[in-house]
Amino acid sequence: MEERLQKILAKAGIASRRQAEQLIRAGRIQINDQVVVEMGCRADPGRDRITCDGKPIVFEEKIYVLLNKPAGYVTTLADPQGRPMVSDLLTGITERLFPVGRLDLDTEGALLMTNDGNLANRILHPRFEVNKTYEALVSGFPAKEKLALLAQGIMVDGIKTQPARVRVLQRHAGASLIEITIHEGKKRQVRKMFQAIGHRVLHLKRTAYGRLSLGSLALGKFRVLSADELKKIFSTKSPLQSKT
Ligand code: URA
Repeated sequence: MEERLQKILAKAGIASRRQAEQLIRAGRIQINDQVVVEMGCRADPGRDRITCDGKPIVFEEKIYVLLNKPAGYVTTLADPQGRPMVSDLLTGITERLFPVGRLDLDTEGALLMTNDGNLANRILHPRFEVNKTYEALVSGFPAKEKLALLAQGIMVDGIKTQPARVRVLQRHAGASLIEITIHEGKKRQVRKMFQAIGHRVLHLKRTAYGRLSLGSLALGKFRVLSADELKKIFSTKSPLQSKT
């Protein structure tokens, strides 16, 4: 489908629309080996060979999806054991999306999937301290002092965890539902943190990335995120403090 060149360049993620106009004016864009200088020029990314500084532009649209991952699905893109993969759940999405970070096979909940490597790097980089919130059903009734230890930081695999926000949501017969927010993402971190205070995680679900929460999204379903929703991921810079 033909579109204005500025729009195509912006969609490809190489420039904003304004920057795209600058690239065109500078004679850096070619369509089918012809330098383009006209601003109103249209092209078809599926048919025309479009280059910037001689390098072909890849035209995959960036797409961001929030999936409510069920237990039993792996977050890798290939599994030698042939187990179900989270990508199997993205019916109707033709782009190749990859998960941002990981969730254990037996963990449920919010999993962001995208083809935007830059965004994935930002989310996973410790500098951005994106908060991740989990609901953990744990064995027994952890004492206040033990939960305070989790909140302050506790030794896991020889390293002290960063401060966490911890809140008791419910007490059941022999188990407690606890909300915990962390901004690290070490392997099996939440399970290991509870293990360190002597309580086993019986069920684990991630409910939110930053202020982006699962809401009413059903298990196994996904929704495509808007730009405003994406911003919510980075909007929690407040230090993590506990409310036990
Ligand atoms: N912490 C865990 O223990 N498991 C997960 O899947 C995510 C965080």
